[in-house]
Amino acid sequence: MRFAAAAEIIEADLWQQYNELGGVHGGNPAYMAALSNLDGDMPQYISDNTDDELSHAAFLNAYLISKGEEPVNLDAFRNLPSSQATGAKDIGRLTNLLKLNVDLSWYTRYRSARNPDFGVKFKGPFTIENEPAIPLNDYDTPPGQDQPVPPATPQEARMQAIANTAGFHFAFIEQGGASLYPTLAFKATDPEVLRILVSIGGVEIDHFGLWHDKAGNAVAQPLAGVTDPETGVTFPDLNARNSELDQTNLILPEPCEFISKSLPACSVIRPTLTKNGGAVATIKAFTDDLLFLGQSKAFFGLVNQVAIEADSVRRGF
Ligand SMILES: [Fe+2]
Ligand SMILES: [Fe+2]
Repeated sequence: MRFAAAAEIIEADLWQQYNELGGVHGGNPAYMAALSNLDGDMPQYISDNTDDELSHAAFLNAYLISKGEEPVNLDAFRNLPSSQATGAKDIGRLTNLLKLNVDLSWYTRYRSARNPDFGVKFKGPFTIENEPAIPLNDYDTPPGQDQPVPPATPQEARMQAIANTAGFHFAFIEQGGASLYPTLAFKATDPEVLRILVSIGGVEIDHFGLWHDKAGNAVAQPLAGVTDPETGVTFPDLNARNSELDQTNLILPEPCEFISKSLPACSVIRPTLTKNGGAVATIKAFTDDLLFLGQSKAFFGLVNQVAIEADSVRRGF
């Protein structure tokens, strides 16, 4: 439960940054317009996802306290810089969204009949490296500019690439939650703890399914083909590849091998083994994402300690 609380505090911090700039009351019109090119409801979904994470974090810490357990407090590590763009509050952050390497392997993984819990490694359909997921400042991406499809100016292309990166990052974060909660639930002995983990975990899966759908719109017509002029990151037309591992509307999980290869394929969340989707794996995935870029040794020490403790829990009878 302490690791779940830590993960939710981290999620809440990143979602709040997205919400300030691109949520339904977001403060950056051009970013909101670029996000809305993925789906007109994007600002509403961003705000709702943010509310969910804040509720998860607050509930889990309150539950820990109610049971006489120590809550998780990461406030000492809210030192990373904010975006300087119109709309962002200038406060210290736990997480970095100003430059990300977004692992897109989930996109292929959920379209494949193979399962990473059987040792299979997946590659993403394209690469997002060193790309911002929120606007950096108003000089780079003016907050009042239009966001036509396709973008007409380098600054419009830059902002669209940033919004597209956010779309894929949303799905990356939430697929992590979709795998994490089952791994934690297996360890629960108390039925009430199991109920909490399964019930919050279900909402993470709901988030992932939503974002999987929206991210695909960045790599389908008419939006596909945007290149960030600063970084060179390109969002290709994945449907032009005529491959089921790329097709953008194949957003529901493909049945895959599960438990034993001698059993029939089953449509399931994957991975769900602790070593692939557990707490330590989650912190590693977030670290590789550059979500913790600039964080202190003390921060990594604390979150890894809580993660190792979580992964070592065994269900008791
Ligand atoms: Fe959450
Ligand atoms: Fe989430």
